[in-house]
Amino acid sequence: MPAAARPLLLALLGSPCRDGANSRLLSAFVQAAGEWEVVRCSLPELKILPCLGCRTCKQNQPCVQHDRMPKLFQLFERAQALVLAAPVYFYGFPAQTKAVIDRCLPLWYLESQLRARLRLKRPGYFISTCASQRRGEFEVIARETKAFFHTIGFQYTQSLLVPGLDGKQAAQRLNRALLHARTLGRQLQRRL
Ligand SMILES: Cc1cc2nc3c(=O)[nH]c(=O)nc-3n(C[C@H](O)[C@H](O)[C@H](O)COP(=O)(O)O)c2cc1C
Repeated sequence: MPAAARPLLLALLGSPCRDGANSRLLSAFVQAAGEWEVVRCSLPELKILPCLGCRTCKQNQPCVQHDRMPKLFQLFERAQALVLAAPVYFYGFPAQTKAVIDRCLPLWYLESQLRARLRLKRPGYFISTCASQRRGEFEVIARETKAFFHTIGFQYTQSLLVPGLDGKQAAQRLNRALLHARTLGRQLQRRL
């Protein structure tokens, strides 16, 4: 496929660990997605400031926080598919990733027409890991991801939730999960 015709896959790393489990799973997914043009972005490295809850954005005014969030909004709009990989931190997201999600509040306040344009049901994949062996550990983060994807115009298409990445069996479990991540990436590749 000519480079100019390749649709954009936005790959978001939500872990502050550059070479951790989620980073590896994200790489496996992206590699298997083949011909998509990929923009990979580490959310913690963007150092996005937290939402102050001032509702300035509700008045259609620019956010009072000045950072690289507008760049992210541009990527959300350009992307044809999204994959987010983030670990469970106390049932939720790492703080740096939660800050990005909260800063999506202006998208709630968009004019309905604009909102309809954003809600294109583009595919969104979610990858997450945790130390505990209990699958219930993902309950909150998965719900939050659904709301996040919905807000920025993606459909929660499929998830890969990997518990038990601690202790003796961790390496084995991660290897199995890497295979699953590749399967999901190939599934996205078939959408081209
Ligand atoms: C601050 C912090 C909080 C965590 N909270 C939980 C938790 O609530 N439940 C859990 O099972 N694991 C928890 N973990 C473990 C991580 O989810 C787990 O190690 C994950 O696989 C790390 O992924 P990464 O290597 O991609 O960063 C926590 C880790 C940290 C550093």
